[in-house]
This record gives sequence, C-alpha cells and structure tokens, in this order.
Amino acid sequence: MSEIKKIAVMTAGGDCPGLNAVIRAVVKTAITKYNLEVVGIKSGYKGLYHADFMPLTEENTSGILHLGGTILHSSNKDNLFKYPFEENGKTVYKDVSDVAVKNLKDNGIDAMVIIGGDGTLTSARDYARKGVKVVGVPKTIDNDLAITDYTFGFDTAVGIASEAIDRLHTTAASHDRIMVLEVMGRYAGWIALAAGIAGGADAILIPEIPYDINKVAEKLKERRKKGKDFSIVVVAEGAKSVTGEMVVLKVIENSPDPIRLGGVGQKVAEELEELVGLEARATTLGHIQRGGTPSSYDRILSTRYGCAAVDLLMDGIYGQMVALINNKMSYVPLEDVIGNNKNVDPSCEFVKVAKNIGISFGD
Ligand code: F6P
Repeated sequence: MSEIKKIAVMTAGGDCPGLNAVIRAVVKTAITKYNLEVVGIKSGYKGLYHADFMPLTEENTSGILHLGGTILHSSNKDNLFKYPFEENGKTVYKDVSDVAVKNLKDNGIDAMVIIGGDGTLTSARDYARKGVKVVGVPKTIDNDLAITDYTFGFDTAVGIASEAIDRLHTTAASHDRIMVLEVMGRYAGWIALAAGIAGGADAILIPEIPYDINKVAEKLKERRKKGKDFSIVVVAEGAKSVTGEMVVLKVIENSPDPIRLGGVGQKVAEELEELVGLEARATTLGHIQRGGTPSSYDRILSTRYGCAAVDLLMDGIYGQMVALINNKMSYVPLEDVIGNNKNVDPSCEFVKVAKNIGISFGD
C-alpha cells in the first residue's frame, strides 16, 4: 500500500497545447484508480511558494481535454532555489525552496506531478534531491527534452506551422515572392524541420546546421531557372549563419533561461531579396504555435503521460520523468534529463530525407 493519499499537480514554464489534457488525466487516474485527493498548484512555482492551491475534482477538470493553455495558469520566472527579492534598491537572490516544502507538509500533500520543460524540471529535480516525492511530465513545443521521443505540444505546433506554410504558399505564388516563416523552438530546430518537410519548404534553416545565405540564395535562383518564381523558407528562431550569432529579441530577468530569440526571419528575408532579386516578406508565427486546441496526437500523448505519472508515484518511483521511448510509455531519472537537451542531429534521417527531396539547409 502506498503512503500517498494526496497529490498536487503543477504546470510551469511556457504554456503549450495539451497541459489541460495532462491535468485531466492525472486527476481522473488519481481519483478513479487510487482514490486520492488532488490539488492544483496555481501559477507554477510562485503558487508553491505562496501555498496557492486549489482542489481538483472530476467536476472541475471535466471538459478541458481539448482546451489550450492551462486552467492552473503558469509562470516561467519563479525559481525558488534562486528567488529574487528587492533589498535596499537592489535585487538579491535567496533559496526559499524550504518554504515550498513546508507548504506541502502543512497542506498534507505527499507528492507532486510537475509538468514542464527544462527550466521547470530542473527545479523538480532539485526538489527530488531534497527528498520531495516528485514525477515530471515532459512539456514543450520545442521537443528539446532529452531521452523522450516526443514532448507533448510539439505535434500541435508542427501542425500550426505546416498550415501557415500552406497559406504562405498561395500568396507567395500569386506575387512571385520569397516567403520566410520564422518558427519557435529555442535552440533546437525540430519545429522548423518537421513543419518544413510537412509544408514543402524549399529551404529550412536550423540552429544545428549554420547556414551560408549565398547557398540558400543559389537554391532559390535554381528554382527561378526552372520557372518557379516563388519560394518558401522556414527559419527556426535559433538559426544562425556560418559567420553570425543567434538573433536575440530580448532578455527577461529572473527567467531560468533569460534569452528570448527572434528576428532572424526578417534578416534572412532582407538578405535573400537582395541576393535573389525577388521581393521577400517575413512572417513570425510566434505564440500562435503555443495556443489553442491540441492535436489528437497530443491529447493522447498528454493522457498517457498523466496516467503514467500517477502510476509511478503510486509504485513508489520518484525523481523520474515519464518518457515516450520507442513509442512505449517509460520513465527516466530527472538527473539524466536536465542540462542534456536534445538537438537535431545534422545526420539524422529527417535531415537526410529533406535533403533527398532537394530542401536546402544552406550548408
Ligand atoms: O519553450 C517554448 C517557447 O515558446 C520557445 O519556443 C520560445 O523561444 C519561448 O518559449 C518564448 O518564450 P516567451 O513565452 O517567454 O516569449
């Protein structure tokens, strides 16, 4: 018999489609299979610090499977191991993680399911090190968490980006233009690569393969020679040229990863306009990739993750992240996941397939 009677679930970091589906699966599994009490922690680690908890029941988690966002809200700024305070006009950082441990104890919470990406799961690992019973669930549209085949949210983001490419195709063809689509993904090119293949891009630029803009231009000029006076270029926000750096949009203080990337799409469009001699326009897809209804694939994956996370806790297996490995539900130590992000291998099958069908990576 497990000692666990009451669990908490938290969503933290950037939101992504499928968060509510995980919450729902956790609650349903916890209540129907194990007769547990469940609470939600509001607004990520901030809610853990302020003991901002809400009861989760089958009633208040009903009808949320298809909803984007998170009913628990999220925050990507509150690292309780390095929490900012204003003192004498200066920001000082303190470790307030014990406040959270006390809040859990005072509220009779025996274990936590923490749904998040690298930053969020780093704190989950640190709580596991402190002896808190924790299981992580891999969330991010970027698909950059180690070991798991897929994070939930990625499939939806790729679907949205692919549809955007379809729409750019018709306007590109009508105006004989180069259309550049900048997609998210942080330091990994998974969204650009998958959406570029699905959408039939002519060039895909990703962080893992630094591009030479002249080579991309050559590819588009070749298309012109063959009578195609329009082209589609998909650029990951973290893409960089062989001689340049990633383009930083802004720096967010107090975020586990303060760098926000953005702007490379516009840069690439301007350079290609000049080199190819065709008008170019850039579209930045932005947070549209993170909003709205999750795909069926993500709803199923989120549900599998939510069920598996509760099963792990009840089996007494803590400090782990549920993971999809060769399409089987499994788990791996959080220690092996953190700081070990999964990037696109330039020699992987996806890149080979793209190259085989003539997509340029500018290399
Ligand atoms: O990690 C998810 C993600 O959407 C990245 O793709 C993107 O770089 C970043 O978060 C944007 O963060 P924010 O929502 O703080 O602008």
